[in-house]
Amino acid sequence: MSAASADHGAAAAQDWIAGAGMPLRGSLRVPGDKSVSHRAVMLGALAEGVTRVTGFLEGEDTRATARVFERLGVRIETPSASERIVHGVGLHGLRGIDAPLDCGNAGTGMRLLAGALAGQAFDSVLIGDASLSKRPMRRVTEPLAAMGARIDTDEGGLSPLRIHGGRALTGIEYTLPVASAQVKSALLLAGLYARGDTVVHEPHPTRDYTERMLAAFGWPIDFSPGYARLSGGHTLRATDVAVPADFSSAAFFLVAASVVPGSQLLLEAVGMNPRRTGLLAALRLMGADIVEENPRAEGGEPVADLRVRHAPLHGIEVPEALVPDMIDEFPALFVAASLAQGRSVIRGAAELRVKESDRIATMATGLRALGARIEETPDGAIIDGGPLHGGEVESHGDHRIAMSFSIAAQLASGEVRIGDVANVATSFPGFEALAAQAGMRVRVAE
Ligand code: S3P
Repeated sequence: MSAASADHGAAAAQDWIAGAGMPLRGSLRVPGDKSVSHRAVMLGALAEGVTRVTGFLEGEDTRATARVFERLGVRIETPSASERIVHGVGLHGLRGIDAPLDCGNAGTGMRLLAGALAGQAFDSVLIGDASLSKRPMRRVTEPLAAMGARIDTDEGGLSPLRIHGGRALTGIEYTLPVASAQVKSALLLAGLYARGDTVVHEPHPTRDYTERMLAAFGWPIDFSPGYARLSGGHTLRATDVAVPADFSSAAFFLVAASVVPGSQLLLEAVGMNPRRTGLLAALRLMGADIVEENPRAEGGEPVADLRVRHAPLHGIEVPEALVPDMIDEFPALFVAASLAQGRSVIRGAAELRVKESDRIATMATGLRALGARIEETPDGAIIDGGPLHGGEVESHGDHRIAMSFSIAAQLASGEVRIGDVANVATSFPGFEALAAQAGMRVRVAE
């Protein structure tokens, strides 16, 4: 079965035109958290009973995950936008199909599914779009093989992933070579089907949504930052999941309102899991004025309203300890650093090279085209802040790159054309409209 025979097509090409807008004002709520939405559908599908998910991200990535489970026999209702009712089939209730399962652009979808499907009685094949087909999968297939799974990849450890069913899995104790919540989660999901204990140690703690959600679904699990242990043979019990607004989506507005003079913006009910908020700490070190208001817990997750006011930013050496807690926010940070006073240095972020695009190269190339002074290093960049001008930049189908360039454009002296932006819909459908409502100038090119 080849990727070409799959039921997906590449997103239609689309560009944005962005340019100097107005100060960002008012209040807005960004869409639901992508990581939490993926996991809510997955655990809901494997649980006994009916799980109601509110605040679900209506993005292409998370919809692809829901579609995979529907194709495996799970009934998922959409009673209203951003709501899903998942009729769980239990740990052993999925039904295999003789067709590839399309994860779209989503690394989280594919890697977590690899773990969950490694323990099934049936074979499955996971495919993705052109970007996902270039992303490293050995980081999950190797430890899963050590648990007894058999997963064939294409040359170089790339997808499609051909997962053989009917394998008896055994828990392992594994120290991740690279901090990755996706790899950790894949092993924990396989661990649900394994004999004995599955134990994961991380070099740096990463987002712990899988651990928290497993506990909420009633699975016994022991976890602390950098560590998780569970054993197979229990049952997931359906529960309701309230998805917080995605900090990674709020991040673009945190940077935009910080850099555009006169801005004052309130971002409502943003998920504040400490493993996600590294950018907040980095921006504050740069001089940003961001206040957490009304901190509270929603659906077991910390949430706050974030009030951000324009403030002059200065360059910093980004503390390496923050890197895993802001791994998805570096494109936005590159923009903040390009517009800050003085030099910023980013190190220890080589993982950026294997995201939806090589984010060090795509950001450096694009921002240089707008006049920024950036030197790429193997694991980061050295950025000297200064003025930006108009021009043309390429986002290489990477959603976060496209949105980050649209922020840079707000302070550019001329118009910026941003190529290949359709994949913004993977994580933030409706970004242009919300950005324009806040005062930014960004629109789809004719
Ligand atoms: C995610 C983990 C991170 C992150 C991705 C979502 C998750 O990836 O970049 O956007 O939901 O577990 P890695 O685990 O590859 O660092």
